[in-house]
Amino acid sequence: MEKKNLDWQNLGFGYMVTDYRYVSNYKDGKWDEGKITSDANITLNECAGIFQYAQCCFEGLKAYTTEDGKIVCFRPDLNAQRMADSARRLEMPVFPEDRFVKAVEEVVKANEAWVPPFGSGATLYIRPFMIATNPVIGVKPADEYQFRILVTPVGPYFKGGAKPITIKVSDFDRAAPHGTGNIKAGLNYAMSLHPIVKAHEEGFAENLYLDPATRTKVEETGGANMIFITKDGTVVTPKSDSILPSITRRSIMYVCEHILGMKVEHREVLFSEVKDFAECGLCGTAAVISPVGKIYDHGEEICFPSGMEEMGPQMKKIYETLTGIQQGKLEAPEGWIKVI
Ligand code: PLP
Ligand code: COI
Repeated sequence: MEKKNLDWQNLGFGYMVTDYRYVSNYKDGKWDEGKITSDANITLNECAGIFQYAQCCFEGLKAYTTEDGKIVCFRPDLNAQRMADSARRLEMPVFPEDRFVKAVEEVVKANEAWVPPFGSGATLYIRPFMIATNPVIGVKPADEYQFRILVTPVGPYFKGGAKPITIKVSDFDRAAPHGTGNIKAGLNYAMSLHPIVKAHEEGFAENLYLDPATRTKVEETGGANMIFITKDGTVVTPKSDSILPSITRRSIMYVCEHILGMKVEHREVLFSEVKDFAECGLCGTAAVISPVGKIYDHGEEICFPSGMEEMGPQMKKIYETLTGIQQGKLEAPEGWIKVI
């Protein structure tokens, strides 16, 4: 298989049109058999549910080339599960979880030429999504939907890769209590656009959202969960009903506890505790583990002892173990790696 002639080492996190995508349509109460197509465009009626009431959910996962040349995905079954949860919350039909995993496999296989080579630092980002396709004007769920998976090769989410970033405590809220923060709805990201544009203008890489009800607890950033390391080496990660249950974070918790023998606490984290942590990072599919060197909070700065030059020692150990598993360099726990 001849790879595309791309500058793999220097890819940013952006969309590039690739050769194939997977499409399945839902009509009259059922999903069609689905197929791979080369058409990157969707034609819809102007009143389609997606345009009027933002009925849309999505997922994000990656395909990697391992050292021995295999193409693998990391825990796609968990993306299938989470997409089913998102669909239920948005009154959308569930795309069957086993079909989701098969569709990921099919679309990655079809786009093999676009999967970045081992060691390039790039990966194939896979974006499954579902939209409401038939006209809706009264506020109600649509009857017809499209499930689609596009893929695009990507580099690091934050410029500079593993260099620590500075984030700011946002004055905006990401998700209401009992709202949609715990699912991957497009609407959660629409409302984060204004805060992220402002944060970037002010020179920050991301927003840290606190719990909207009391503004005392750490939630997550616009596109990743938070992990902290205490001075005695315990991993602490916020628990909340209004944050996205990150697959990366759940995997890190397992790796820390069962492989690295670290103590892990998944609990409410007060913002007032943050100044006492030794290391801080963001975790997610796009972010992988991105170290945070500094948090800006209304004129005050929390500077982590790990500094602004490189990832702290504990975070580095976790990063190396997690990415080692994802890239097939280290043995993975049962069922984590899906060979394509
Ligand atoms: N939190 C938010 C808001 C996200 O958009 C993402 C990205 O998917 C994550 C957390 C990380 O989740 P995962 O590790 O499953 O990619
Ligand atoms: C992901 O990590 O897959 C996401 O969807 C997050 C987004 C900010 C790119």
